Amino acid sequence: MSSGPYLHGHHASVLRSHSWRTVENSCPHLIPHLHNTSLKILDVGCGPGTISVDLAARIPQGSVLAIDPSQEVIMKARKHAEEKGVTNIRFEVGDIFNWGAVAGIEESGFDIVHAHQVLQHLQDPLSAMKEMKKLTRKGGILAVRDCDYSAMNHYPPNEGMSKWLDLYRSVAKSIKCDPDIGKRLHAIAMQAGFPRSDIDTSVSAWTFSTPDERAWWCGLWAERSTKSDYKARVLESGLGTEEDLEEIARTWREMEGKEDGWFAVINGEVVAYNRP
Ligand SMILES: C[S@@+](CC[C@H](N)C(=O)[O-])C[C@H]1O[C@@H](n2cnc3c(N)ncnc32)[C@H](O)[C@@H]1O
Repeated sequence: MSSGPYLHGHHASVLRSHSWRTVENSCPHLIPHLHNTSLKILDVGCGPGTISVDLAARIPQGSVLAIDPSQEVIMKARKHAEEKGVTNIRFEVGDIFNWGAVAGIEESGFDIVHAHQVLQHLQDPLSAMKEMKKLTRKGGILAVRDCDYSAMNHYPPNEGMSKWLDLYRSVAKSIKCDPDIGKRLHAIAMQAGFPRSDIDTSVSAWTFSTPDERAWWCGLWAERSTKSDYKARVLESGLGTEEDLEEIARTWREMEGKEDGWFAVINGEVVAYNRP
């Protein structure tokens, strides 16, 4: 099983959003499970690794192994760990569908297997969940979080935002990914073999509303629409044109300028217990 193309790629505008992420703002579902500071954690699809490094810092006697297929982001993640002075972490190029190739990953090898905003980018999220379950030790947990684009919301109303959302969701679906997967992570966990009674579900949101938050969130989407791999995917898909993307970028800039602007990203979360 190979990975499909990663829709956003790793342009600076994409990494900027990933690099803002911490355990506190992106893994609220995981925090109650981090009391034991000797845990062994696997972070799948770690991107630039800010969450992974934050996790490692919270478990000083434990360790984190973080993998991503992109050599480019793994280099950035290693640099980030170095800058933060966090040493109980190892970043390796690796693919969840070929984990056997990564030294140190073995079946039942981890107390926590974690993936944040990764399953939405996979063409076969069920197989990925099954692989992650295999890697979780008996008594350990699998923790997954993904947003649901169909549940995103904004204020004030703006037709251009619907155009952005419709285009994004269509392009993701055209490469056989599910941009709305956040609402069915529990169902995938059930298909992967977890009984319903062993799965906790929750939802948490990111909101962007202050001038700084709007500048950051709207600015990065304006840039993503015109500069990242996402632009290339839109054009390849035939679902949108360069002019559409320019118009969408203008809409984002317009929304950035709205003093009463407000954006909500709804994220579905699942903690599945791998019972002995
Ligand atoms: C949206 S980013 C999330 C990064 C990070 N977890 C975070 O939240 O900041 C998704 C990441 O999944 C990675 N990815 C894609 N396919 C993968 C696979 N088959 N195995 C592991 N990671 C994968 C991508 O390279 C990308 O860095």
